[in-house]
Amino acid sequence: MMKLIRSLSPIYIFVGLMSLLFVNCASVETPNRLRKDIDLQGHRGARGLKPENTWPAFEEAIKYKMVTLELDTVLTKDKRIVIHHDSETNPVICQNADGSEIQKKSLYELTLAELQALDCGSKQNPNFPKQVPVPGTKLLSLEEFFELVQKHEKKSKEVYEFNIETKFPDDGSASDGLVKEHTEKLIQIIEKFKVVDRSTIQSFDLRTLSVSKQKNPKIKTSALFVPTYFQGFLMTIGFGNGYRESIITKAKDKQADIISPYFLYVTPKFVKSSHDKGLLVIPWTVNAEKEMNRLVSCGVDGIISDYPDLLDKVVVRKN
Ligand code: G3P
Ligand code: CA
Repeated sequence: MMKLIRSLSPIYIFVGLMSLLFVNCASVETPNRLRKDIDLQGHRGARGLKPENTWPAFEEAIKYKMVTLELDTVLTKDKRIVIHHDSETNPVICQNADGSEIQKKSLYELTLAELQALDCGSKQNPNFPKQVPVPGTKLLSLEEFFELVQKHEKKSKEVYEFNIETKFPDDGSASDGLVKEHTEKLIQIIEKFKVVDRSTIQSFDLRTLSVSKQKNPKIKTSALFVPTYFQGFLMTIGFGNGYRESIITKAKDKQADIISPYFLYVTPKFVKSSHDKGLLVIPWTVNAEKEMNRLVSCGVDGIISDYPDLLDKVVVRKN
């Protein structure tokens, strides 16, 4: 999905800037939202500050008092759930332990041990100049992540929530069997660590949401959506209501608890329509202060950001 956004980025920037002319929540009274009312989510932990989807990034999210840790998962060749965004190894963020460059390889052809031999902390992601490398950082299995969280919670007496995404190949080739296997494995681990009541399973692949509701209806689900260029363009010129209504319908059809749209196209009307249908609204991925404030004014229920430090600052100011 990020590939899609990257390939369209100049267009998205244009559409994004234009849409700000049309998508404005300023007319809505800004509620005095308290921190506890807004689900602050650290995207990939804190991708803007530390290597994404690694323990240092999750620690950073915790440091800035995020309510929820957002993370991506892929099923490995040996059927383990690894925390990683792409379903291929990514030379932009990982390298071999000896510092040599890695080749792209499908995660479905690699075991967890093979993936954990990589150093995914030394390289600074060039898209995130404030990101501080943590050399030698390994990828985590979902079980290792929950073990670390449990240790941390015991010490700090704090309790965190989890927004866990299932990731599949970008070309849409995931079979029903793969979606089922991945989602069920994820649920097994959530149940094993007794975090059912504070976990959300999110996906762009809405089949995940059906499997999840069937397997354990107590786990919240979140339907993710990204508009195509054409849909973005229509919204930019003021004809986006069809798209907005269609994603609300899709989320409801899947019995989702949350709708998670691309942040630029969230309007007060969209939030109200979602709320009227019983859906919470948690847009992704919001990295600018002005947009965070705009979305709070729109009445969103949560915000997902690569910059928990900024999110913390903005929402504190609203208290
Ligand atoms: O939580 C939603 C957001 O993470 C979706 O985008 O591609 O960063 O996983 P992506
Ligand atoms: Ca994600």
